[in-house]
Amino acid sequence: MPLKIVVGAQWGDEGKGRIVDWFASQAEVVARYNGGDNAGHSVTVGSQLFKLHLIPSGIVHPRPVAIMGNGMVINPESLFSEIESLEKVGVDAGPKRLRISHAAHLITPAHKALDKAMEAARGKESIGTTGRGIGPAYTDKAARTNLRVADMVGTDFVEKLGTHIESANRSLAALGAPALDIGPVLDTFSQYATRIRPFVADTAAEMDAALRAGQTVLAEGAQGTLLDIDHGTYPFVTSSSTLAPAALLGLGLGMTAARDSIVSGVCKAFQTRVGSGPFPTEIHEESLALRLRGTGENPWDEYGTTTGRPRRVGWLDGVLLRYAARLNGFTELVITKLDILSGMPHIKICTAYTRNGKIYHDLPFGPTDLEGFEAVYEELPGWTEDVSGIRRWEDLPQPARDYLDAIGRVAGVPVRLVSVGPEREQIVPAG
Ligand code: IMP
Repeated sequence: MPLKIVVGAQWGDEGKGRIVDWFASQAEVVARYNGGDNAGHSVTVGSQLFKLHLIPSGIVHPRPVAIMGNGMVINPESLFSEIESLEKVGVDAGPKRLRISHAAHLITPAHKALDKAMEAARGKESIGTTGRGIGPAYTDKAARTNLRVADMVGTDFVEKLGTHIESANRSLAALGAPALDIGPVLDTFSQYATRIRPFVADTAAEMDAALRAGQTVLAEGAQGTLLDIDHGTYPFVTSSSTLAPAALLGLGLGMTAARDSIVSGVCKAFQTRVGSGPFPTEIHEESLALRLRGTGENPWDEYGTTTGRPRRVGWLDGVLLRYAARLNGFTELVITKLDILSGMPHIKICTAYTRNGKIYHDLPFGPTDLEGFEAVYEELPGWTEDVSGIRRWEDLPQPARDYLDAIGRVAGVPVRLVSVGPEREQIVPAG
């Protein structure tokens, strides 16, 4: 089997972690190709909830090798704390199982400090970043001044890091933020450099070999389509390419690796968004919104995994889903959190927008220009049954199946899998 790419179809909170976990049981390699520890992937195995931010979430399976690709930005502090917490609960995250690209970029304390200082300077115009230093690290990458994992294993790493922190201190001063104390950063990063050495590899070559040997490689996209730097709701986006085609570049694979690949778009059964920005299908009716969002008591309630912020909730936006399907080339859809919709008096799905009396089936200038659009809905009956115990398509209530069919029709992509709860086995394959 070739490459399988799993991508978030929305704003990055689709519940990809548990879907990757489902697919990972059939993979020999799981890989991440973009972003850093801004991601938040929750996987529940038995009574254990794993919250992974940086390491591919497929690592919680005993079989696959986990690869962190060249498209990523890696904070060594988060890396080693995540490795330690995985090993504490018996997951092997040693260098035989976890391989880190020599060409991946580093996030340093300077990037984190700059992220926070730049957000503060933006004031009301702030992006609402996770504060993990993602933007400044990718900025340095594009400016060709950043440090890479390969630098950590070189002999002049400490000098290079010192120069980097001095330069960042000048930028911090310009933003009115305090300078970093260079000595402690050099000390801790020297220790990280020794520790990271056995993990570093030419991961692109290893993946190429895996694909040639007929192994299954699962590429795990972080964030989601609408957070993509080019095609998302710019400037309220992350700083990496999140889409399926970025898996090739971010893992160092050639075009032929994409031949016959499966592209799974993970999409919640409704819409959520963190922070500000237009949201045409937002539900303002508090009783319905609360039903979707939850109270925050359960880990799968609609509160950010990385930031803890409550998410805004709304009806599924089919216009945005079609957009995501086109840009990623989805070959199948995975719908998550169907169980949350049980008990809704009716279900709506946005099929088009209207603005100034005109109907739009697609956005004229992509999702950045959502302002002023109103949703046009198809309304379907709801269902009252608890679906969380269902494992067969034919056992789902008819209105739930009708809704899933409507999603597939509106998106133009078939629904292949549905999740009905946070546990590993709470999955219903399409009939
Ligand atoms: P950054 O990636 O920290 O620069 O944040 C940029 C935007 O992306 C902010 O709106 C974040 O909340 C959002 N974001 C980044 N990573 C994720 C994610 O994994 N899920 C959802 N939103 C994210």
